[in-house]
Amino acid sequence: MNKDLLLLLHPLFAIAVVFPMIGIVVHRGLQVRQRRLKTPSDGKSKIPPVVGQEHVQIGRWLTGSVVVAVLLALAHDIVSNVVETQRWSTAPLKVLFVGLMFIATIASFVLLYQAKQKQWRAIFATLTGMGLVVLGCQEGVYRKTDQWYVSHYYYGMTAALLMIFALAIVQSIYQDKKNHWRTVHIVLNGVALLLFFGQGFTGTQALLEVPLSWQEPYVQKLYELQCEQKPCTVQPSVPQATP
Ligand code: HEM
Ligand code: HEM
Repeated sequence: MNKDLLLLLHPLFAIAVVFPMIGIVVHRGLQVRQRRLKTPSDGKSKIPPVVGQEHVQIGRWLTGSVVVAVLLALAHDIVSNVVETQRWSTAPLKVLFVGLMFIATIASFVLLYQAKQKQWRAIFATLTGMGLVVLGCQEGVYRKTDQWYVSHYYYGMTAALLMIFALAIVQSIYQDKKNHWRTVHIVLNGVALLLFFGQGFTGTQALLEVPLSWQEPYVQKLYELQCEQKPCTVQPSVPQATP
């Protein structure tokens, strides 16, 4: 498949699958809250009790889809880098390690969905989160650390970790009579919601910054010569085919 089309897999998935689901989950979440805070003097609520169940069911899918979106982006970055640098011939063990990390992260995530007991949910949530962070630290991932406050990577990673946390504490939200976990959930997922807005902005910016493959040698040269600071003419670094 064309390299430029592969790059679009992650944004396509985010826009077509993740964002619509965020809309539904937030709407149901607000309904749950509205229904819960209704006082007896308000009369019978028009909101059906099923909204809680729907929020959690679609919330589970949302966590899954955000983690898949992040894995797709990281896989694209890491695999492209391995192919470009031919890393498997210089550091095959490192390539093997990264492959195993992908498998271990996906396995921990699947087990998090299966786990019922609190301690296992905590363990698999931590392992999944650690897996994502280790994969995010690999070569080829564009982290923009010097501008972390507008970085698509840091926003995306934090949002994914918050979704995993939300999935891990579902039982605690229901069991906590004093509603402390519920408050923690609202605050953290309010932050996650802002980060998702940020992903819409930083993601489209990322799309503008990634050149099409035929433009890449020219764009590389523009960066090397710091053409954003001064006018310059560029020649691609790859040798031109003679007619
Ligand atoms: C952007 C994402 C999310 C937002 C903004 C959000 C927001 C909310 C809000 C406002 C409530 C109602 C709290 C109240 O009763 O005062 C709620 C309840 C809840 N949320 Fe979320 N949530 C999100 C994602 C998730 C996810 C991913 C899960 C788990 C998979 C989840 C699990 C729950 C549970 C278990 C409840 C309690 C439902 C009930 O009482 O029936 N939420 N959430
Ligand atoms: C749910 C929301 C999203 C999350 C959690 C997310 C997360 C990520 C992560 C962790 C990366 C890898 C780091 C990087 O290369 O910058 C990435 C890359 C990228 N994302 Fe997103 N993203 C989201 C939405 C979007 C949207 C809406 C777009 C575009 C409209 C987008 C476009 C991109 C692009 C172009 C890349 C670079 C891919 C590459 O270099 O291989 N993302 N995203």
